[in-house]
Amino acid sequence: MEEVHSISNEEVFDPAVHLQYIPPQKQITMQDLLLPLGEGTSPIAGTVPFSLLSAKGIRAYRKAMFQQEVLSKCSSSPFPGTLVLRDAVKYSKFIQDFWTHSETLRIVSEAAGVPLEIVMPTEIGHTNIQVEGSTIDEMKQNLKIEPTSEKVELSPADLAYDPLKDASAIIPWHYDSYPYVCVLMLSETDGMIGGETYIKKGDGTTQKVEGPQIGHAVILQGGEVQHLAARAKGVKERISTITSYRSKSPTVYDSSFMTNIRPYADLKSLYPEWTQYRLRKLKDEIVYHLQQIEKEPTHVQDQKGLATFVQSQISYLQQTLRQMITPEFEEKTIHRFGRSAYYEAPMIWEKVQTFPAFEALAASADDKRCWFPDSEYWMDLQASIELIRLKKPLKGAMGSKTWAGRRYYMGDELLRQGLNEVFLDWLEHTGLWTMYSESLS
Ligand SMILES: [Fe+2]
Repeated sequence: MEEVHSISNEEVFDPAVHLQYIPPQKQITMQDLLLPLGEGTSPIAGTVPFSLLSAKGIRAYRKAMFQQEVLSKCSSSPFPGTLVLRDAVKYSKFIQDFWTHSETLRIVSEAAGVPLEIVMPTEIGHTNIQVEGSTIDEMKQNLKIEPTSEKVELSPADLAYDPLKDASAIIPWHYDSYPYVCVLMLSETDGMIGGETYIKKGDGTTQKVEGPQIGHAVILQGGEVQHLAARAKGVKERISTITSYRSKSPTVYDSSFMTNIRPYADLKSLYPEWTQYRLRKLKDEIVYHLQQIEKEPTHVQDQKGLATFVQSQISYLQQTLRQMITPEFEEKTIHRFGRSAYYEAPMIWEKVQTFPAFEALAASADDKRCWFPDSEYWMDLQASIELIRLKKPLKGAMGSKTWAGRRYYMGDELLRQGLNEVFLDWLEHTGLWTMYSESLS
């Protein structure tokens, strides 16, 4: 068997040397943001930036990340000008030990205000690197262990850049696929403009959260809070690394999806991790409930409580399966529609709703059910329609909402489940995709 972490010259993680934790000065609450507290939502929406790594810690992290083996096995460039590193923990013991150390987990949980657990190993230290170079190799060559404070001159257009107005130049409004995220900055930010996060408040206005400085981190309940990340300008490199979490508590509903990662993750290594994490979470829930009943057998007489428990485990298991789109279907649809259409699927859905033929085409497709007539998506659609009839909220990849207004279509259901590739396939079947493509030309 291949020995992992074998030829490394990286440092050994030591919390006393590499960590420099100063608790965040402020936590932003859901109430501050005028947002509702759904089931499984923590009252803390996020933190302002706080110090996490010492100067030695920053250097050791960069050294670990820029090892030949990590760079050669973990890089891809899913978007122009961005180098992404995934699964670095498979090759770097330092990165693995830093994120999974009990002290780091304690700090992240304390800052977030809830006990947190890493979602799965593949979501440790997802790294986005903005650096000069037009190919992966050129970008890699420009990476140095010492953080550079070299600045890039800002053009008048850069200085006038407003991420809230310049829709083309930002990572658009979105919810994360996982409940919590910790973003750690590994580059100098002096002279940088942008790089902050904007959060959409309950009244439709926005709140700005400053981006972290080098060695600092922010935590966001990104699965429940709609946000956008402003592009950073004025610096030669920008390296941020992100780890995703869920609540450790067995009674808190875990709303995780693989929507944001399916188009570029290695599905064959992702799905076994996903399945293990989901089944472990299910086991924790069942053990917890069993213990409650063992302590107090009359609990079972609480029919309503038991029904809620059973129902939420059923939907949890269903979501576990639905998220595992087959690699063949994934590849085919991404090839057919393109990665940007995948990420823009919710906006495409908004757009097609303005077409005069929208209702007729969507309704006809759903009434005839010629699209995958045997699929379980039709059962899911019916179940959601029942919840709407009962005026119960629909929970999904884009937060939780009570449906009101027009008929609920398959397109709504697929986006609720974060199945953007399946949504595009359905949209094409209705004829709306062709109409959308034509509207662009
Ligand atoms: Fe995000």
